[in-house]
Amino acid sequence: MRKKIVAGNWKMNLDYNEGLGLFSEIINMFKDEATGKQQAVICSPFIQLHSLAQLAKGYTNVAVGAQNAHQAESGAYTGEISAKMIKSVGAEYVILGHSERRQYFGESNELLAAKTDTALKNDLKPIFCIGETLQEREAEEHFNIIKSQLVEGVFHLDETDFAKLVIAYEPVWAIGTGVTASSDQAQEIHAFIRIEIAAKYGQEIAANTTILYGGSCNPKNAPELFAQPDIDGGLIGGASLKSRDFIDIVKVFN
Ligand code: PGA
Repeated sequence: MRKKIVAGNWKMNLDYNEGLGLFSEIINMFKDEATGKQQAVICSPFIQLHSLAQLAKGYTNVAVGAQNAHQAESGAYTGEISAKMIKSVGAEYVILGHSERRQYFGESNELLAAKTDTALKNDLKPIFCIGETLQEREAEEHFNIIKSQLVEGVFHLDETDFAKLVIAYEPVWAIGTGVTASSDQAQEIHAFIRIEIAAKYGQEIAANTTILYGGSCNPKNAPELFAQPDIDGGLIGGASLKSRDFIDIVKVFN
C-alpha cells in the first residue's frame, strides 16, 4: 500500500528559533496524538534543516525536507545549496517544482528534470509539484499541462527511480488564496495522474505512488479531500505554520 503523507511547506517564514519552537510543538503533538502509520514531513528553510533533523531522530514517522536544491553536484554557484549538502544534514525529502519556484525563479520542466536527477542521485526523495494556473484551467488546458509537467519533468526516470518520488498536485489558483479545489476537482486530476503513471510505468508502480494535494488545505477541508481514493495526503503551506492545524490535518488519517 502506498504511504500516506502530510508535508508542511514553511516557505520563507520563521526565523531560526521560531522554526525550532514550532517543530518541537509538532513532534510532541505527533507523538501524543497521531496514532496511524501516516508520515509527517516538515520542509523548512535550509537554516533549520540540521537542527530539525536532530530533533526528529527517534521519530520514525517524522522527517524533514528542503524546499529546493540546485541541479549541479557542486561548483561555482554562489548562494546555492546542493542536494548532497541537504542530505548531509539529515534531510530525507526535497520539494521540487513548486509553482512559486516555477513562477518567480523561472524553473522550467527541463531544469526540474535535472534537479530531480541530482536529488535522486544524492538519495533525497523529491516531492515533485505539478499544477495548472487559473488561466490554463479556464482554457481547459489543465490535463495537457499536468501531462506535460509529468512527461518533461519526471517520465525520463527509470522505474526504480520513479518509485522513489512523491507527486504533489497543487492547482496554482488554490495556493495561498483560501480557494481550494473541490474534492471532486482534485480527485479528477489525481486519478488522471495515476492513469498517466500506469500507462508509463505499469499498474503496480502507479498504485504505490503517493500523490498529495496542495492548495489552501486546512483541518476543515482535509477530511473530505483525503477521503478521495487517489488523494494520499497533503502539501500544506499556511496551515503548517500552526502546530494545532498541522497536526489536525495529520490526524485525518487516524
Ligand atoms: P497553501 O500553500 O496551503 O498556503 O495554499 C500550499 C503550498 O504552496 O504548498
